[in-house]
Amino acid sequence: MAKKLRVGLIGAGGIAQSHMRGWEENEHAEVVAICDIKRKAREDTAKRWGVAKNALFDDYEKMLEKVELDIIDICTPNAYHKAPAIAGFEAGCHVLVEKPVAISADECREMINAGKEADRLLMVAQVLRFGIEGQTLRAWVDAGLVGDIYWGQCSCLRARGVPSWGVFIDAEASGGGPCYDLGVHVLDLALYLMDFPEPVSVSAATYLELADKPSLMKHDPAKYTVPEDMAAGLVRFANGATLFVQTSWALNVTEAATGHNVILCGDKAGLQYSPPTLIREENGMLINSTPQVPLDVPDSGVVAEIAAFVEAIRRDKPSPVPGEQALITQRILDGIYASGQAGEEVEV
Ligand SMILES: NC(=O)c1ccc[n+]([C@@H]2O[C@H](COP(=O)([O-])OP(=O)(O)OC[C@H]3O[C@@H](n4cnc5c(N)ncnc54)[C@H](O)[C@@H]3O)[C@@H](O)[C@H]2O)c1
Repeated sequence: MAKKLRVGLIGAGGIAQSHMRGWEENEHAEVVAICDIKRKAREDTAKRWGVAKNALFDDYEKMLEKVELDIIDICTPNAYHKAPAIAGFEAGCHVLVEKPVAISADECREMINAGKEADRLLMVAQVLRFGIEGQTLRAWVDAGLVGDIYWGQCSCLRARGVPSWGVFIDAEASGGGPCYDLGVHVLDLALYLMDFPEPVSVSAATYLELADKPSLMKHDPAKYTVPEDMAAGLVRFANGATLFVQTSWALNVTEAATGHNVILCGDKAGLQYSPPTLIREENGMLINSTPQVPLDVPDSGVVAEIAAFVEAIRRDKPSPVPGEQALITQRILDGIYASGQAGEEVEV
C-alpha cells in the first residue's frame, strides 16, 4: 500500500475536530503533527484523536521545520490563514484552509500565487458543496436540468446567534462578522451552482444595530468590533445574472426566516435549498421534486471534502475548491463591505 499522506493541523479549536474526523476516516492520509498556540487545545485534540505527544507545536514554523509533511490543514481564525498557508507552500505542502479563504481578495491572491510557485494545491473548505444536499443540487445542474441561471438569492440568517465562543466578534482576528462566518457558505454554494460567473459590481448595505448592545445573547457587546451584524447586497455578473446575498447573526425575524437558504432560477428549472428541491414543469404542472435521501449524517460534508482533497493530490487532479473560485467569493464579500461603507454600488 502506498505511503499515507502526512498532515499537520494548524489551529486545534472547534472546526478542527470535524476535520480530524475527516482525516481519521481517510485511509490515505493521517495527521502526524498538531500546532496550536493554546496548549490545552493542542493537547486535548492530540489525546482525542491519537496524535503523538511529541508531535505537538506552539508555532507552525517550528512544526514545518521539524516534521516532514505533505499537507497542512489550517483551522485558525480568518486573519491567520494567509501566513501559515504561504509558509506551508514554501515548505512544499499542499494546503487545505478553512473558509473564508482570507480577509481580503489581495490576501487570497498572495495565497494563490504562493501555491502556483510551489506547484501545490490550495483548497478552501467550502463544506456545503460536499454534503449530500450540495451534491444533489450540482447533479441536477450537471444533468442540464436547470439551464442558464439568471437570478438567485442566497441567505444565511440568524435571529439571535452572535457567537459567544472563539474570536468571531473580534475584527482583528476575524476580519468580518456574519458575512465571513455564514454568508460565505451560501454565497459559495450559489456561485458553485452558477459555475462561478465573473462578478462586476455589488450594491450592499451593512448594519450593526443589535449585536453591540446588551441583549439576551451571550456574547459581550463591548467586545463586538466586527463591522456588521447584518448585511444585504445585490451582485451583478458579467453574463447578466444577478444574485441577492443576505446574512445576519442578529435580526428581528422569526426562526422560520433563519437558516441556510438558496434559490437559483434557470430558464429550464429552479433550484431551492435546503432541502434540495428542483422546480420545473412536468405534465402541465409546476412540480417540486425533493429526493428522499438521508440528509443529516453528522460531519459527512467534511469527511467528503477531505476525501476530495486527498483524491486530488493522489491523482494529480485540480483542487476541488481552488483559490481562483475563493477569490471570486472574496471579491464579492470585499464588495459588500466596501459598498456598505460607501453607501453606493462598487465595482468588484
Ligand atoms: N466550515 C464550517 O462550517 C466552519 C465552522 C466553524 C468555523 N469555521 C472556520 O474555521 C476557522 C476556525 O474557527 P473555529 O470555530 O475552529 O475557531 P476556534 O477559536 O474554536 O479555533 C481556532 C484555534 O486556532 C488557534 N490559533 C489561533 N492562532 C493560531 C496560530 N497562529 N497558530 C496556531 N494556532 C492558532 C486558537 O488557539 C484556537 O484553538 C475560522 O476560519 C472559521 O471561519 C468553519
